[in-house]
Amino acid sequence: MSFAIALSAPDDFEGWRDAAARLAAAGIPPEAVEWNAGDGADSLFGSAPSPLPDVPPQPIPESFRDLARFAICHADSQRFALLYRLLFRLTSAPGLLSNRADADVSRTHALAKNVSRDRHKMTAFVRFREVAREDQSPAFVSWFEPEHHILRLTAPFFVRRFASQVFSILTPKASAHWDGESLRFGPGASRRDAPDGDRFEALWLTYYASIFNPARLKVDMMKSEMPVKYWKNLPEAALIAPLIRDARARMQGMIAAPTASRAARGPGYLPQVEPAGGLTACRACPLHAMATQVVPGAGPENARMMIVGEQPGDREDLEGQPFVGPSGQLLDEALRRSEIDRSTIYLTNAVKHFHFEPRGKHRLHKTPTRAHVEACSPWLRAEIRRVEPEIILAMGATAARAVLKQEVAVKAMRGRVLSDFEGRKVLITWHPAALLRLTTREEKRAAWAEFLADLRLARDIAQIPLHLPFDGQAPEKPPEAAALSLSLQSDARRPQSPRHT
Ligand code: URA
Repeated sequence: MSFAIALSAPDDFEGWRDAAARLAAAGIPPEAVEWNAGDGADSLFGSAPSPLPDVPPQPIPESFRDLARFAICHADSQRFALLYRLLFRLTSAPGLLSNRADADVSRTHALAKNVSRDRHKMTAFVRFREVAREDQSPAFVSWFEPEHHILRLTAPFFVRRFASQVFSILTPKASAHWDGESLRFGPGASRRDAPDGDRFEALWLTYYASIFNPARLKVDMMKSEMPVKYWKNLPEAALIAPLIRDARARMQGMIAAPTASRAARGPGYLPQVEPAGGLTACRACPLHAMATQVVPGAGPENARMMIVGEQPGDREDLEGQPFVGPSGQLLDEALRRSEIDRSTIYLTNAVKHFHFEPRGKHRLHKTPTRAHVEACSPWLRAEIRRVEPEIILAMGATAARAVLKQEVAVKAMRGRVLSDFEGRKVLITWHPAALLRLTTREEKRAAWAEFLADLRLARDIAQIPLHLPFDGQAPEKPPEAAALSLSLQSDARRPQSPRHT
């Protein structure tokens, strides 16, 4: 007996999942199923849709579901059949997904990875133009040409980012429309339906030219990050050739004036002094006597973002690594939700030794004093100067004081881009431990949303690419956020204008 399954759209994951779960439960072999998603995918003869077997659906493993959700958005015409074959085979070989040498497994991962990349490019290269609505209020429209069926998968990213605006994203095969309250999807559009420029275009081009850093110019890398096929829809692309041409001269100018730019950072500039003997030998305050070991910062020396916490906790003190205890787990979850790869961030603390009070078998965290922070300041400054991040995210009052050298009320100052006394960008946010201490659900939701919004803002300022969930790896299971009693639904982003992402 053969089955013809009609799906409602080329990315109809739910339709595929429900049908596949019943077909697999009924033992229907892959070669007996024909899939039709109305886009030519797998559709052979346009057979009339068959009723599904009347059996309870077979449970689909979570790791496969996550992978399939991405792979199904691929433009490959065989994707539904491939995924059903894999699901069918998983019934008798539950460990199959970890066999990357298997042709079906590796093909599915490749599809998911392509989709993930396309989605990443969309989040980076959608450009909105302002249009006036009938009542003269602004709306924003963009035109984008994805390779795969990623619009439904990616539109929520823009909704989170531009929640308070009205916008449409037009693509050749589908369109998404956000009216400030609900997200709707409609048919495809044409390039002519989207405006060509708007009153902000000149401003954006000036801004783009000003942030173009000739010292960081690597043309091949730039083309791989920003493939040429996207250029036709990017207004700034017209500037790239002249900027590249001028880069050499600008770079020579920068080399000729190093002292001027340092001096321009202001009178607070201090020469770099690392205390003698190295960090492990530091005796500048009494904390070294009680702590197990010093906990230095960790991360790449060319990181674009540095995150500064307060001091190591109990776990960090034992392991010698920052952010490996409960605060670190919460930070990991927030980084994951902000699509930031932890391994690209430099993580450190204002104070490098654990300050605690022994209480029976336990060691209770104590806030470091001003003197502890002062004593550790040369180490932090040395790290900052070594890494020279694009932005420093200071989590909590102690980190903010250490970075900005002044008292800071986190509640009032968080979320704003400030400068340290050497002119670097600094963003203040909540410390994860403060989130863990909150008691009411409302407080937790609000602070968690703010924390995520701050992380994402820092990510965007530092221009850190979104971390791809399927970069050749099976998706990582999120840490137990429920154990941290935080709502997973609460990652609303602080609304901005959807001008450029
Ligand atoms: N809290 C911090 O501020 N830093 C750590 O490394 C761990 C917990």
